[in-house]
Amino acid sequence: MTNQEKIKQLIDLRATAKLGGGEKRIDAQHGKGKMTARERIDLLLDEGSFEEYDMFVTHRCVNFGMEATKFMGDGVVTGRGTIDGRVVYVFAQDFTVFGGSLSETFAQKICKVMDMAMKAGAPLIGINDSGGARIQEGVTALAGYAEIFERNIMASGVIPQISAIFGPCAGGAVYSPALTDYIIMSKGTSYMFVTGPKVVKTVTGEVVTEEQLGGASVHGSKSGVTHFIAEDEQEGLQLIRKLLSYLPQNNLEEAPLEPCDDPIDRLDDSLNEIIPDNPNKPYDVKDVIHAIVDHGEFLEVHRHYAQNIVVGFARFNGISTGIVANQPNFLAGVLDINASRKAGRFVRFCDCFNIPLVTLVDVPGFLPGTAQEYGGIITNGAKLLFAYGEATVPKVTVILRKSYGGAYCVMSSKHLRGDINYSWPSGEIAVMGPKGAIEVLQSKKIKELESDEARAEFIAKSEEEYKDKFANPYNAAQYGYIDDVIEPRNTRFRIIRALQTLATKKDAMPPKKHTNIPL
Ligand code: HXC
Repeated sequence: MTNQEKIKQLIDLRATAKLGGGEKRIDAQHGKGKMTARERIDLLLDEGSFEEYDMFVTHRCVNFGMEATKFMGDGVVTGRGTIDGRVVYVFAQDFTVFGGSLSETFAQKICKVMDMAMKAGAPLIGINDSGGARIQEGVTALAGYAEIFERNIMASGVIPQISAIFGPCAGGAVYSPALTDYIIMSKGTSYMFVTGPKVVKTVTGEVVTEEQLGGASVHGSKSGVTHFIAEDEQEGLQLIRKLLSYLPQNNLEEAPLEPCDDPIDRLDDSLNEIIPDNPNKPYDVKDVIHAIVDHGEFLEVHRHYAQNIVVGFARFNGISTGIVANQPNFLAGVLDINASRKAGRFVRFCDCFNIPLVTLVDVPGFLPGTAQEYGGIITNGAKLLFAYGEATVPKVTVILRKSYGGAYCVMSSKHLRGDINYSWPSGEIAVMGPKGAIEVLQSKKIKELESDEARAEFIAKSEEEYKDKFANPYNAAQYGYIDDVIEPRNTRFRIIRALQTLATKKDAMPPKKHTNIPL
């Protein structure tokens, strides 16, 4: 073969590899409203930045006549590219080749880019669309999954790991995405479950569809497995780009500082009006978030799950920041099991990746009741408490209204190494709300009173006295637990100045193998 023929051979081989499982299967993929692995990568990365590795890899299986059917690349496209000019490593499972099922060599390709991402200190993005372990391969496929899991674990807290689910993801295959930092599912075309509808029916008799068992909306709202629901794959891929813009490349770097033309001392008068005089009336804490962050831009994580707490990313004068805020508009902003898990994981993520935390507090306490106690609100509530207490990133807290009981301690209080703790004048910091407090403190006296009118009058007077004493921020400020009481409309400026002050903060944990967070 001449050199020219060899070059032509290379070009032909590349063209064949790019067709994956062939035109017919590509059409079938498109017919399901799905893109191919390469189309997804092209949309995800900066134009022309993708460099593919291991295009010539094929499987080594000789069972069930497999040696006769080989596809170049073996069902997964791997490589590196850039997003907004920053390097990322990527793999995309190719459903057109054996249903994107994972073989020994397929897993080796993924492991290779995972190792490269770790060495380079760059994020890893995995696009999942697979029928699971390649049945013809048996244990080597299972071993391949486990090799990936181990690398997910080693990379956790070192480089950001993001998983997109754009098709099936079932059985043990779900655990690689579950080990990563963020999951994005596309509406209508993706599902995740440990056991599928057929097995569920056999074992429990329950009849469910794939969508009901593990579709995007189920995992976005009920289980919390997915952090984001995308309308379609395009939106999902754009979301990954946006999410990465808030993150550093690795745990030794800071997130990129964006140039900011939103004035840092922009006053927002609407904030002086936002807290209703009636303490039982709700308001939307997202209005507060939008008013104080750069250009009102907020990337909410877990938008549909445990809506009594809001978490997500925004910027203050260009500094990427994690925001945690109780949501009075949903269950009065109470802390329950799901809210504690959701916020606890988010706080830990920010701490891993040097992203400062701003916490907005309006919380009546922990949700009471048997459902919560039996479900383990003690252990789960402790997760959020633990996460805040161990976090060493800059922590700025603003109490907007209620900050009662254990929830006061948990929500980035001074006592959990909160760096700068502000309160609005509407702050109410106490062991419990006036109603509950009077019931406990004055129950004997209330019983002794003779008429309903006398009881009502006494309760109202006692509650008023209690409110005067505790339903304000000054009691806590007297002890230095609140650094300053601030005017609501000036919140943006005060947070930005606090974050600037804390830019050089150094804090650490005592030497240990790792913590024992109550899982
Ligand atoms: C080998 C597979 C495959 C698999 C699909 N294919 N899954 N090949 N191993 N696991 C092949 C099909 O034979 C077919 O090949 C092509 O992929 C497309 O599959 P279809 O069934 O035609 O597609 P569709 O109707 O869209 O159904 C997709 C599917 C279904 C729902 C994923 O294929 C399916 O149920 N597959 C098996 C899923 C499964 O049980 N996997 C094992 C899970 S256990 P042709 O040549 O016709 O194109 C597991 C353990 C992991 O994964 C443990 C980790 C610790």
